[in-house]
Amino acid sequence: VPDDSLRAAWDGQAENWIAWNRNNRDDTFYRFHGERFFELVPEPGALTLDIGAGEGRVGRALHERGHTVVELEGSPTMARASAELGGIAVAGDAACLPFPSSIADVAIAFMSLHDVDDMPGAVLEIARVLKSGGALVMAIVHPINSAGEWSESETFSLYQDSYFKERVYSDSIEHDGLPMTFNSRHRPLDAWSGALEAAGFTIEAIREVGDEEGKWTRVPLFLDLRARRS
Ligand SMILES: C[S@@+](CC[C@H](N)C(=O)[O-])C[C@H]1O[C@@H](n2cnc3c(N)ncnc32)[C@H](O)[C@@H]1O
Repeated sequence: VPDDSLRAAWDGQAENWIAWNRNNRDDTFYRFHGERFFELVPEPGALTLDIGAGEGRVGRALHERGHTVVELEGSPTMARASAELGGIAVAGDAACLPFPSSIADVAIAFMSLHDVDDMPGAVLEIARVLKSGGALVMAIVHPINSAGEWSESETFSLYQDSYFKERVYSDSIEHDGLPMTFNSRHRPLDAWSGALEAAGFTIEAIREVGDEEGKWTRVPLFLDLRARRS
């Protein structure tokens, strides 16, 4: 894994991410985003793959909803942490999935594909491992969010001169003394729909998710979607 890859940066944040999730219930996943996202997830089939699964919080929630989940995670430390809580977790690259073709009914990528270096390659791989008619349900940082920044007076503006320019960025946040640095890549919506189209997906549903109060009621935080492999 190259030192300057997003995957390596995430592995470097593994201990922070595990502590953040297991001690901080203020994260948007627990407050509202998890429930919003699960509305898009189909009924369980024989196998659900969770791609970019982190320390396993989404896999555990899906397991409670009746899914048989296998997780794929870029950081070996995080995959191990999930396994310690009972998750079936494999360390590997989303763009080179260690699974046979046409094996899964559902693929989940919750807040992970914008953190994957080769996102179009990962989407192709997800299409390969899904059965025909299988669903990919994914959540990403909304491209409007990642294209911009807030000023101190809470005015939102473009970070650089073009929404269309891709960029790698880092956001450092601290909650209750728990530090976390998020390493991601901004891509315009066109890059996402292009990757899904090239992999043979049809988009079925899109949700733009904001917070319930504060500045993120004015600009969407996340974009969730369900796509079907034809
Ligand atoms: C924001 S976290 C989300 C984790 C999990 N889905 C959750 O919601 O708790 C993004 C995850 O993507 C993983 N990731 C980054 N690049 C990856 C890659 N190339 N292959 C697989 N996972 C990757 C990171 O290690 C990290 O666990």
